[in-house]
Amino acid sequence: MSATADIAGTLLHWYDVHARTLPWRAPPGSPAPDPYRVWLSEVMLQQTTVPAVKPYFEAFTLRWPTVEALAAASEEDVMAAWAGLGYYSRARNLVACSRAVAERGGFPDKEAELRKLPGLGAYTAAAVAAIAFGQRAVVVDANLERVVSRLFAISEPLPGARKAIRARTDEITPDTRSGDFAQAMMDLGSGICTARDPKCLLCPVSAHCEGRRAGDPARFPVKAPKKAKPHRTGTAYFIERDGEVLLATRQGTGMLGGMRALPDDGWSARSDGDGVPPIDEDWSDAGVVSQGFTHFTLDMAVRFARVSDASLDGEWWPIERLDDAGLPTLFAKAAARALADR
Ligand code: ADE
Repeated sequence: MSATADIAGTLLHWYDVHARTLPWRAPPGSPAPDPYRVWLSEVMLQQTTVPAVKPYFEAFTLRWPTVEALAAASEEDVMAAWAGLGYYSRARNLVACSRAVAERGGFPDKEAELRKLPGLGAYTAAAVAAIAFGQRAVVVDANLERVVSRLFAISEPLPGARKAIRARTDEITPDTRSGDFAQAMMDLGSGICTARDPKCLLCPVSAHCEGRRAGDPARFPVKAPKKAKPHRTGTAYFIERDGEVLLATRQGTGMLGGMRALPDDGWSARSDGDGVPPIDEDWSDAGVVSQGFTHFTLDMAVRFARVSDASLDGEWWPIERLDDAGLPTLFAKAAARALADR
């Protein structure tokens, strides 16, 4: 058996014994799980950790047990249920995709067809094809990138190394059980071949690992030096009237678009806010909340005022039910700051 074929066989044996039990998974080697649950979990797991995803996955599948149920939900309800998971364009695509799938009578089973659905990039299409439909597909996420770059000591830095990593992953992906293989690699990456402290003594494929042989597997994947992210500042306004707070729905498909939020001064990834409040009031300051986004970091000042004016545009939301508004984390933190200080 070639070394690369042996990697798949060894890993699948290991997975048969050590696979994590996760709510969206079928046990190793058993019939494929519901494509809806596979797709939903894979979308949630992009950019988010397994422990963070679990409660959301359980809440979503309880409330919307099928893709048809999700397709019938309002975008607003889905966005609110997604609040806290971040990267909100995923939630908008989730609704669009569920509607496209319901319309065509179910998920397609081929990677190329899956790829055409809203929000399904190369990774998700491959993962769903392999895990839900048993198709051979080359699945590469951040865990696989790390494991494969170590196994083959790929010294080219990311992101340029992606092509080589993909080719190597293709080489070691088996023709059958490629979904189990991908998930075995993910489990290996999350529990053993970890970013900082790989536990090579526990690794089932350490005998094949060129990174280990070279003496310092944690050196891989090599990363190009990071560009500094721009820093932005802005202000959010907590406007209270009779036990209610004014919420806006953010426009468009851009930053947190479609989500409920506190009104703000127009900050964006590209520019600072103008510091001009939506109304002339006697504002009090409630500190600053900070958050890192993919392309910038933000310090957002929080100001609050009590008003009697009923003519403001937006949604007056009962403060005692603010947890149900589905505010993204940044604005939930800002509201908490205002509530602590007012
Ligand atoms: N991360 C992304 N997809 C996953 C899966 N199916 N199992 C575990 N971790 C994952």
